[in-house]
Amino acid sequence: MRVLLTGGSGFIGSHIALLLIERGYDVLILDSFVNSSTNVIKAIKTYLDNKNINHSFKIINGDIRDKKTLDRIFDDSAKEFNPIQSVIHLAGLKSVSQSFIDPLHYWNVNVCGTQNLLSTMNEHECFSIVFSSSATIYGLTDSAPITEDHKISPINPYGKTKVAIENMLYDLYKSNMKSWKVCSLRYFNPVGAHSSGLLGEDPIGIPNNLFPYITQVAIGRRNHLNIFGDDWATTDGSGVRDYIHIMDLSEGHLDAIDYLNSKESCFEFINLGSGIGYSVFQIVSQFELSTGLDIPFLVKDRRDGDVAKCYADISKAKKLLGWKPKRSLEQICLDGWNWQKKNPNGYN
Ligand SMILES: NC(=O)c1ccc[n+]([C@@H]2O[C@H](COP(=O)([O-])OP(=O)(O)OC[C@H]3O[C@@H](n4cnc5c(N)ncnc54)[C@H](O)[C@@H]3O)[C@@H](O)[C@H]2O)c1
Repeated sequence: MRVLLTGGSGFIGSHIALLLIERGYDVLILDSFVNSSTNVIKAIKTYLDNKNINHSFKIINGDIRDKKTLDRIFDDSAKEFNPIQSVIHLAGLKSVSQSFIDPLHYWNVNVCGTQNLLSTMNEHECFSIVFSSSATIYGLTDSAPITEDHKISPINPYGKTKVAIENMLYDLYKSNMKSWKVCSLRYFNPVGAHSSGLLGEDPIGIPNNLFPYITQVAIGRRNHLNIFGDDWATTDGSGVRDYIHIMDLSEGHLDAIDYLNSKESCFEFINLGSGIGYSVFQIVSQFELSTGLDIPFLVKDRRDGDVAKCYADISKAKKLLGWKPKRSLEQICLDGWNWQKKNPNGYN
């Protein structure tokens, strides 16, 4: 079965690509490499070669906003009598802070890019899509655990683009309910790395997220970790979040594809998280315990837009997809550190 994976060279996409290929899918990766390195593709090939896994996956260096490129991809597949049967759509921009600085660019890439992709799919009668949405669409809420029917109230332009895309997907589904099959997966915080140490998270510049920040402190690229607030209404005063191992998240996509394949048509929003809230202090302690390293930190003032607790209710994913996260926080720390140790400067 041929799958088009947009953003397949990024942090999440590369791990999904590897799983898809390992499980025998015929994978086309479309990526503009605007936020990823071509060394990711080399790492995927190295892993598959080391494991003697046959692969003939294709990489297309292109932009989801370029209609000609998208048409060509679908046309070529049809000519090869191997049409694209499903799309996993991850390509997009994801920095909350950048989305405040350049909102039009975020709307252009995320929303117009997705609109372009969906019209191309529609024209080529490919009606199956898994979309990467985000827990950020729930906005400022302390009502953890969060279910999918929680109020949608994004507080940044990035989150608003995700909501706009979910709405667009819904309208499209309603326009042709006999054909469209849509899963919008709302991710919490994907962290960790592939256990081989060949793939992992390599943020450009200063990491926005806790985990890559910790591993960069551990490897000596940063002096200390900043912890924003130790007076939250949580057991130890630091913020509580939901961290999910990247491989658990990736497996959720394969289960979503299976789910779509089992349906004539459908439309679902599904949370993907661990379903557990961990505080920042708990994460730091577990990382220190798992690696034997010290993570120096400074407690800073709370940041605007943060909340005390945010974690997922994952019962819908368990029920509909038959999926559940399998990897512990310890595994997250070990795999994340293994990746950073083997690749002190990421993919470069
Ligand atoms: N990482 C997270 O914490 C997180 C959480 C929730 C949702 N998401 C969503 O998941 C998706 C993947 O996230 P990620 O962490 O892997 O990000 P990433 O930046 O590592 O990967 C995104 C990939 O898309 C590519 N891309 C960007 N614009 C493109 C365009 N116009 N055309 C083609 N390719 C383009 C980038 O080069 C990159 O390889 C994103 O849509 C993101 O919003 C991520």
